[in-house]
Amino acid sequence: MKAYYDQRAPEYDDWYHGTGMHASIERPGWHEEVARLTRFVGGLSPGRTLDVACGTGFLTRHLHGEVVALDHSPSMLRVAAERAPLAELRQADALALPFEDESFDRVFTAHFYGHLEPPERAKFLAEARRVAAELVVIDAALHEGVDAEQWQPRKLLDGSRHVVYKRYFSPAVLAEELGGGTTLFSGSWFVAVSARNDSALSGG
Ligand SMILES: C[S@@+](CC[C@H](N)C(=O)[O-])C[C@H]1O[C@@H](n2cnc3c(N)ncnc32)[C@H](O)[C@@H]1O
Repeated sequence: MKAYYDQRAPEYDDWYHGTGMHASIERPGWHEEVARLTRFVGGLSPGRTLDVACGTGFLTRHLHGEVVALDHSPSMLRVAAERAPLAELRQADALALPFEDESFDRVFTAHFYGHLEPPERAKFLAEARRVAAELVVIDAALHEGVDAEQWQPRKLLDGSRHVVYKRYFSPAVLAEELGGGTTLFSGSWFVAVSARNDSALSGG
């Protein structure tokens, strides 16, 4: 996944904008929901936030407060530096966060958790819970005709081909996986759930 996203950085936002290779894909209500999602992100309470796997910073730039944006990909971070100039950028591994315990009020992560296979998921959740009391996860919504778990063939503009692991979530399933949480956003394309350390621990 790391190499694929590093290569995809220059064309990544085409997915949000419905341009480039995504121009011909039928996604009813997509643009309205992307706008709603960005408003939702902008409406999260300000605080010291770590955006894990920030990508191009498409959503990062809407976060308020003191924002640290982390990604493994140098190409993604180059774009994020322009998109989200107020955020402090860090190149690091999301599964071994280079921060002290409880360094943040919130870990925010979008379209990352659903790419993790079980051992990575457990590592990421442990790291997120270690550095912040709250975890907000945005991911792809499960909708009709879509399998919840897929290995998707992907192609980039340079002609390279990749296979990517991706999951789609109902808010309830995502909340349960996070050990108990609150649904903050439930759309046709995106879901967002907030989980707090205390509920995560008691919910297993
Ligand atoms: C689907 S993109 C999501 C980008 C952004 N959060 C968004 O919602 O638009 C996934 C991101 O995860 C990053 N990534 C993948 N594995 C990572 C890891 N182990 N540590 C840090 N970043 C990683 C990729 O470089 C990519 O930017």
